[in-house]
Amino acid sequence: MSTIRPYRPADRDALYDICIRTGDSGRDATALYSDPRILPDIFTGPYLELDPALAFVLADAADRPVGYIIGTADTPRFVSAYRRDWLPKVADRYPEGSGTGRDAERIRELHHPEWMLQDGLADYPAHLHIDLLPEAQGRGAGRALMDTYLAALRAAGVPRVHLGMGAANTAARAFYDRLGFHEIARPAPSLVLMGRGTAVT
Ligand SMILES: CC(C)(COP(=O)(O)OP(=O)(O)OC[C@H]1O[C@@H](n2cnc3c(N)ncnc32)[C@H](O)[C@@H]1OP(=O)(O)O)[C@@H](O)C(=O)NCCC(=O)NCCS
Repeated sequence: MSTIRPYRPADRDALYDICIRTGDSGRDATALYSDPRILPDIFTGPYLELDPALAFVLADAADRPVGYIIGTADTPRFVSAYRRDWLPKVADRYPEGSGTGRDAERIRELHHPEWMLQDGLADYPAHLHIDLLPEAQGRGAGRALMDTYLAALRAAGVPRVHLGMGAANTAARAFYDRLGFHEIARPAPSLVLMGRGTAVT
């Protein structure tokens, strides 16, 4: 049996682990990077630090995190806070301009959060990331996490939300399509932006 509950700081390492273990289009991305913290330091840590009230954990019967949904209600504000309050905490671990291949791409993203400010997103101020370990997938928990997150955005008066997904992640695409997201744009061949309203449909 699993439950959804608010994030607690003690969950942080487990959520970092979930991020890297699902970071290659849903598969384990550990082998792809020289430092497994690079992905969660971009896609998990800043949300836990800057928007903890919008972080929800899927926990198993032993209260061990097996999934999460995280995000922000206001992407431009988040990008400013990331640059001001988050980047100084992680920048030294990944010197700007260092690394090769995928490492270099992620390090560039880590230092330039403005990549999140893509065209076409003005009407979709919130965004999100959702990841479940394989053992927790396919049982309705992703939908339940999304319901929890959308309700929190609605309660905060946020009308619409977007997300960015890897174009190769066909399983995630089927999930988002099923949950009422539509494609907004493809700013790069590998990146699809999707969005929906926060109202119950
Ligand atoms: C994508 C993910 C969040 C979906 O969560 P989930 O718990 O597996 O999905 P659910 O069981 O809640 O499914 C919700 C609905 O989507 C549908 N769905 C989910 N995955 C699907 C798939 N691969 N193909 C077709 N439909 C799918 C389900 O049939 C279900 O429909 P229903 O509620 O109308 O019956 C989860 O599988 C995951 O974390 N994957 C790995 C990490 C990842 O890729 N994250 C997204 C990065 S952009």
